[in-house]
Amino acid sequence: MIEISGLYKVFNEGKPNEKIALENVNLSVGDGEMLAITGASGAGKSTLLNILGTLDFATKGTVAAYDLTLSAMTPKELAKYRGEKVGIVTQYPFLIEGVSAKDNVSVPLLNGKVKRQEREKRCAEMLDSLGLSEFANTDVSVMSGGERQRVAIARALINNPSLILADEPTGALDKANSEKILEIFFKLNRMGKTVIMVTHNEEIAKKCARNVVISDGKIISDTV
Ligand SMILES: Nc1ncnc2c1ncn2[C@@H]1O[C@H](COP(=O)(O)OP(=O)(O)OP(=O)(O)O)[C@@H](O)[C@H]1O
Ligand SMILES: [Mg+2]
Repeated sequence: MIEISGLYKVFNEGKPNEKIALENVNLSVGDGEMLAITGASGAGKSTLLNILGTLDFATKGTVAAYDLTLSAMTPKELAKYRGEKVGIVTQYPFLIEGVSAKDNVSVPLLNGKVKRQEREKRCAEMLDSLGLSEFANTDVSVMSGGERQRVAIARALINNPSLILADEPTGALDKANSEKILEIFFKLNRMGKTVIMVTHNEEIAKKCARNVVISDGKIISDTV
């Protein structure tokens, strides 16, 4: 369960280049929902997703996920949330360059709780499900944009998160790979995961049970 209330995000507050990216956003997302967020470029979609993923924090208002207020989390709670609860695919995924796809994907499993053999197995299965088996040992630096995007998706999903946040996850993919990725997200949703996906693609949005439209930092429509 996610509960966002009175959320504001202001960049460069008080400066000439001040930008209100989110303005009084209120949104509740129940467990197991599949939600598409659409809206024009610059509307605030990534800002909202990044706040939910704790990559950024609210200027005002509260965001609670799984009974924790994100801005008030202790470092320990934050680590647990990031490591176990949420999987985020950012709009421009950062990968560890010079390192193989497999090693990038295994990063969230390096918490001392998963044995090496188990890590190898889970990474191999995850890469396979994303059509990346042949790239397991390839340095991500030499992979294509779409391949890199899939590595980032694999890394976001490897810890079996309850909440999946994806910012234009199919933006760099061809039709076949887009469909494959979407099918993975829909399958995870059927298994009870909450999926919040930013997309510019109306067709993809329509397939999601709930559509939220953001315009100029405000939610202007929310339809189920
Ligand atoms: N770190 C930042 N500093 C200043 N302004 C920012 C910052 N991040 C985002 N913005 C501004 O906030 C607004 C919302 O940005 P955001 O990235 O959330 O848009 P978006 O809806 O994801 O757009 P797109 O569809 O192009 O990805 C934009 O006007 C953007 O320029
Ligand atoms: Mg964006």
